[in-house]
Amino acid sequence: MIFRQLFETSSSSYTYLLGCETSRLAILIDPVLETVSRDLELIQQLGLSLYATLETHVHADHLTGARKLKQLSGCQIAGPALDKLACRDIQLDVDTTFRWGELELTCLHVPGHTDTHFAYYLAGEPGMLFSGDSLMIDGCGRTDFQAGNAAEMYRSIHDHLYTLPNDTLLYPGHDYQGRRVSSIGQEKARNPRLKLDISPAEFEQIMTDLKLPQPTKIQFAVPGNEACGKCPDNVPAEFKKPCGVEIQG
Ligand SMILES: [Fe+2]
Repeated sequence: MIFRQLFETSSSSYTYLLGCETSRLAILIDPVLETVSRDLELIQQLGLSLYATLETHVHADHLTGARKLKQLSGCQIAGPALDKLACRDIQLDVDTTFRWGELELTCLHVPGHTDTHFAYYLAGEPGMLFSGDSLMIDGCGRTDFQAGNAAEMYRSIHDHLYTLPNDTLLYPGHDYQGRRVSSIGQEKARNPRLKLDISPAEFEQIMTDLKLPQPTKIQFAVPGNEACGKCPDNVPAEFKKPCGVEIQG
């Protein structure tokens, strides 16, 4: 497999490129609008063609690059069917697999950050988990908006993700301190919110006490991402640049 972990600085987001060496088909998990050109150039340099984009969830902190990537490359847009987004070409159902070339991801429903959130698991020695904003390195996604729920987050991680092999590599949707990869075993042992000896009640208290500010882009990012990354009219001038000239279609 051809694999790249790509970073977008303004939202501290990770985008993952997974390419099949035989078919030369690639996917991007959670592409960001600001870095569409970089991602397409890389795909071209690697001799790959973009088959699809996959979202883990409807993001509140940045606009997805899915729609622009489709316009520029002809790729398909995929994401959780639970989101009920008509702009997506491929609706992914819970516990099904998504195949491209000789590669295959399993779609795991892990509510908590949002109620429709997916993580994607690539089996292997070791396996790789693309967790979006569910389990993160020494942390997890927030649970205080977009139908988030701390009790559900706890169940998703303890009852579902923590049943994966301990050596499974954890690739999160964000990291704000430059960390790139962890493992399921490492998070069970030391995640300050989610190590094994923290109870559901203690976790819910930790999440309640965070009292985080609303994301700067939430007012336009959520409706924009519900349209697969179409910039809504209410994007403030300082964030409009990556919207660019609207391509018809
Ligand atoms: Fe998110």
